Amino acid sequence: MVTPAKTIELFRRLSEAPGPSGQEDEVRSILRGEVEKLVDEVHSDTMGDLIARRKGRGKKVMVAAHMDEVALMISHIEKEGLLRFRKVGGIDDRVLLTKTVHVGRDRLPGVIGAKPIHLQEPREREQVIKLDNLFIDIGARSREEAEKLVKVGDYAVFTTRFERFGSGLVKGKALDDRAGCLVLLETLRALQQTPLKLDLYGVFTVQEEIGTRGAAVTAYDIAPDIGFVLEGTVCSDTPGTDPHGQSTVVGAGPAISIMDAGTIADRRLVDFLVATAEENGIPYQFRRATTGGNDGARIHLAREGAPTASISVPCRYIHSPVSVCSLEDLERAARLLTAALKKIAEGGLKL
Ligand code: CO
Repeated sequence: MVTPAKTIELFRRLSEAPGPSGQEDEVRSILRGEVEKLVDEVHSDTMGDLIARRKGRGKKVMVAAHMDEVALMISHIEKEGLLRFRKVGGIDDRVLLTKTVHVGRDRLPGVIGAKPIHLQEPREREQVIKLDNLFIDIGARSREEAEKLVKVGDYAVFTTRFERFGSGLVKGKALDDRAGCLVLLETLRALQQTPLKLDLYGVFTVQEEIGTRGAAVTAYDIAPDIGFVLEGTVCSDTPGTDPHGQSTVVGAGPAISIMDAGTIADRRLVDFLVATAEENGIPYQFRRATTGGNDGARIHLAREGAPTASISVPCRYIHSPVSVCSLEDLERAARLLTAALKKIAEGGLKL
């Protein structure tokens, strides 16, 4: 199946838009522009979550995908004009060196500097440089010069350009979870002409990467009967990792979670997703890691609890400046969710 050019272009816009936790507005406005045509009501709440509702009589289903990405925040400006920073979300310090970033709303170019190999002592070469010894260089020559451009609390985000490569793969930043955002949009698009006996909420959440915070308030507000989470999830299908440690494999279909650090997926929903995939000839895999977590952690605990499961797009190298996923996995994830929602609307899920 060939992914339409306009879907790939939308993926590019979503991936390249800055959306650090707490400042998701650029991503939200792209999504709002797309989703408004597909549902009955769209609103955003106090925290900035975007809630798209397709009204209907039937089970209340919440499908969540998070808008935010891991990023950095400026914490201090040195007298030399270099910026100190903290991490917003889980980033491995080792991936930061020499990466380019955009600082603040005006996307001021910056680079996370490092001492060149020529000047390092042999001992230094064997050590990982600690976050406390890293700076963002914005080209300013003094604190005064830097303060005209940046202030403490500004975010810095990675600048990676989105590109297609290989056979049906893409690379770009923030595929966790712009991949999930796109799956949610494409599912709503696929269902647009289908009458559905469902009260369907497509929810684009904020602040997932720092503790699934947007999902907490939206799940409380919606009080869903059933929850689905769409993620760009961990994958290590590269040489040197035995199959048991890979978690997922790019190109092998959407990954269904059984358990992660925040949620044990509702087993009836897992079985239902597996059956739906098999009936529709959609390849799928299980997410084999039990670490990490997503918005499901909040959704399944909302109010008196809601059966919740996750459908994820495997992404290599997540929580770094660039990750990789398969367009086919994305399409299959949307097909699986579309088929599952139709089946629920027809009364095909017994809980
Ligand atoms: Co995520």
